[in-house]
Amino acid sequence: MDDDRRVASLDEVPADGTLLFTVRGDDGLAEVILTRLNGDVAAYRNYCQHWTDVRLDKGSGALVRNDEIVCQKHAATFEVDSGYCNFGPCEGSYLDSVAVEVEDGAVFLADDDYVFERLGPSGESQESSGSRIDFTGT
Ligand code: FES
Repeated sequence: MDDDRRVASLDEVPADGTLLFTVRGDDGLAEVILTRLNGDVAAYRNYCQHWTDVRLDKGSGALVRNDEIVCQKHAATFEVDSGYCNFGPCEGSYLDSVAVEVEDGAVFLADDDYVFERLGPSGESQESSGSRIDFTGT
């Protein structure tokens, strides 16, 4: 893996929370939350499937409880390993996953759709002024 795709050491990824980082994709900057489960890692775009203009965290990483990522707005829960929503208003949906890999004790961005920018927030507002679209497309 290229050093410019290195996100963090595996030890920096909390098991009871998420590490927030920023990538650049076709649509500009985007935030990603990174978490781990049983030595493996998973990463998802930092927005809820209930209201897609709402971030999952409060700006510094999302709460993880019982191997589930908890949305800070209405507490929908998403399984860490799959992103599947097993409770809440968007039950049955999946978080938007971002491919990451562990190599030599470090986590690398493995998703060709994105370029790693930096650890931490994007610095851009995650709130949109447009209408809300939920996971059903309505
Ligand atoms: S915005 Fe996440 S559960 Fe409602």
